[in-house]
Amino acid sequence: MTRGSLLVDHIGELVTNDGRDGDPLGVRRDAALLVEDGEVAWTGPARHAPAADRRIDAGGAAVLPGFVDSHAHLVFAGDRAAEFAARMAGERYTGGGIRTTVGATRAASDDDLRATVGRLRAEMLRQGTTTVEIKSGYGLNVADEARSLRIAAEFTGDTTFLGAHVVPAEYADRPDDYVGLVCGPMLAAAAPYARWIDVFCERGAFDADHARAILACGQAAGLGVRLHANQLGPGPGVRLGVELGAASVDHCTHLTDADVDALAGSETVATLLPGAEFSTRSPYPDARRLLDAGVTVALATDCNPGSSYTSSMPFCVALAVLEMRMTPAEAVWAATAGGAAALRRTDVGRLTPGARADLIILDAPSHLHLAYRPGVPLIRQVLHNGVPR
Ligand code: NIG
Ligand code: FE
Repeated sequence: MTRGSLLVDHIGELVTNDGRDGDPLGVRRDAALLVEDGEVAWTGPARHAPAADRRIDAGGAAVLPGFVDSHAHLVFAGDRAAEFAARMAGERYTGGGIRTTVGATRAASDDDLRATVGRLRAEMLRQGTTTVEIKSGYGLNVADEARSLRIAAEFTGDTTFLGAHVVPAEYADRPDDYVGLVCGPMLAAAAPYARWIDVFCERGAFDADHARAILACGQAAGLGVRLHANQLGPGPGVRLGVELGAASVDHCTHLTDADVDALAGSETVATLLPGAEFSTRSPYPDARRLLDAGVTVALATDCNPGSSYTSSMPFCVALAVLEMRMTPAEAVWAATAGGAAALRRTDVGRLTPGARADLIILDAPSHLHLAYRPGVPLIRQVLHNGVPR
């Protein structure tokens, strides 16, 4: 027996994501899992379970890796409920409301921003998210982008500099100057707090030339590349991301065959964000087309005050299955191992020896229930780094 060890016993269905035997979820029945030093130390049949200092009886329930939410915009102030109401009355989502949030974010104190991130992070944890990526992108000046990332870094190692979210109002008639600011002083101030760089490559935001220039500067500063691409219409974003070796291109709602082919021959993950289509009443991305082409697909919330104000990965899994025709197994994999791949992480998104002991005990006998029982709070218990939350 190892001091501080914890055994999760009587697991009816253990999702390991070990990918063995042609089953991507690596499901084991009647299993147990041993945690030591915050990591998974052993998994196997419950009848072979080793002794441990403490024990959690899962009572035949399903145990899954904690969700990896690889795309979230949590550093902001204010809400856009009025914009939402207008949309429900028939207006289209264009991303124009981002500037509203920029105004509120610039006016907010550090403590207000920190409180919002903390509240949303706690919401996520209660819903089974144990790893989250957090973007800046509502500061859009040197000081407010840097402080957004400084605050985000208090909550996650996966921080993303999104100074190129939109061109702020004060640069509206000189976008080239704004790109210069992003690549120069803003990147210099942001990079110490950021692991990734992201650009909203879309008509009305940044075109391919601007996006390429900004991402190249980020790469030169040591940041990994990710991209908002092909959300509102077809465009160059996905192929640019593949060309630059992006870890992930996100949204992928409007794709050509060339986009799908590029993704299929690459290491770039396609991250789908169905909360955004749901909340903007837009057509969903064609997940089947991507999966059938062999593209690695991740699911994430896109949690933000404009296009997708949900923090719930279980909800996104249900949408992926019920609205995007992903199988429950594909959706659960995409929300765990897929998210890890989108963040180029191998320590999360799986429950195999050496992985972080980030796991969810469901109030249900199998992962199928996440889509079968949409909207029901099925997360009975979460372990984060082996610690019950
Ligand atoms: O991923 N599309 C760009 N950014 C966010 C929305 C931001 C907002 O509307 O505030 C997204 O959907
Ligand atoms: Fe986003």
